[in-house]
Amino acid sequence: MTGCLELTNVSVSFEAVEVIRELSLAIVQGEFVAVVGPSGCGKTTLLNLVAGFERPSSGSVECHGQVRMVYQEDGLFPWATVTENIALGLRHIGDRRERKRQIGDLLRLIRIEGFEHHYPRQLSGGMRQLVELARALAGGSDVLLMDEPFSALDYLTRLRMRNELARLLSEMPRTAVLVTHDIEEAAQLADRVVVLTQRPARIRHEFTISTPRPREPTDFAVVDAVRRILAELDVESGTEASTK
Ligand SMILES: Nc1ncnc2c1ncn2[C@@H]1O[C@H](COP(=O)(O)OP(=O)(O)OP(=O)(O)O)[C@@H](O)[C@H]1O
Ligand SMILES: [Mg+2]
Repeated sequence: MTGCLELTNVSVSFEAVEVIRELSLAIVQGEFVAVVGPSGCGKTTLLNLVAGFERPSSGSVECHGQVRMVYQEDGLFPWATVTENIALGLRHIGDRRERKRQIGDLLRLIRIEGFEHHYPRQLSGGMRQLVELARALAGGSDVLLMDEPFSALDYLTRLRMRNELARLLSEMPRTAVLVTHDIEEAAQLADRVVVLTQRPARIRHEFTISTPRPREPTDFAVVDAVRRILAELDVESGTEASTK
C-alpha cells in the first residue's frame, strides 16, 4: 500500500564499521513513528535506507510511494526564494497554473504570506524549517522523513514547530518518520516511539502512544510516555538518547 515501509532484517556496514544490525521495522500508511537513540548509532543511516540513498549490506527495504526528506538545517537552496524552493518540490507538474495554485495553497498552509520572495537567509530558522516542510509535503509525496528537523532551533520555536508539524500533517496526512534527540518531542508527536541501541543499531524498545493529536507537552499521555521512555533508557550507563 502507498506510504507503507518495511525493513526486514536489515544490516548496514561501512567498510569495517557495522552501523545497523538485523533491524526489522514495519510502518503502516499514515503512521507517525519517532526514532530516538544515542548519537552516532545509525539514525540518519536508517532514514537514508528508507529514502533509497543507501543500500543495506543484507536484508530488505521496501518503501512504497514517493519519499521526501527534511534535514536539520540548510536544506533549502540559498539562491532560490521561498516560492522557488517550494516550486522545486512541484517541478513534475507540467501545468503552470496548477503549479501556481499548489504553491499558493502551501504558502497559505505554512502562513508565510509576505515572505514569498525572500531568500532563506532572510528568514528565521523556524520559518526556514516550515518552508522545508512545505516543500517536502508538496506534490502529494507519500512519506515524510525528518532528520532532527527542529534541533537547530531555540526551545520556544521548537515547541511551536511541534504544533505546526502536527497541524500540517492533520491537513495533509502522510506517513512520517521523525528522527529526534528530544524525547518529549517524540512523545508529543508520534504514534510510536522506537528506541535504538548504541551502534550497531537494533531496536531496543518500542512505545505506542495512542492518544490522538494534537497533544500538549503537559498532557498525561505525553508526560507518561516520556517517563516510560526514560525508565527504559539506562541514562546512568550512558546508553541513553540525550534529552537536549
Ligand atoms: N557513508 C558513510 N561511510 C562511512 N561511514 C559512515 C557513512 N555514513 C555514516 N557512517 C558512520 O555510521 C555511523 C552512524 O552514522 P549516522 O549518521 O547514521 O548516525 P546518527 O545516529 O544519525 O548520528 P547523530 O545522532 O550524530 O546524527 C557513524 O559512525 C558514521 O561515522
Ligand atoms: Mg544523524
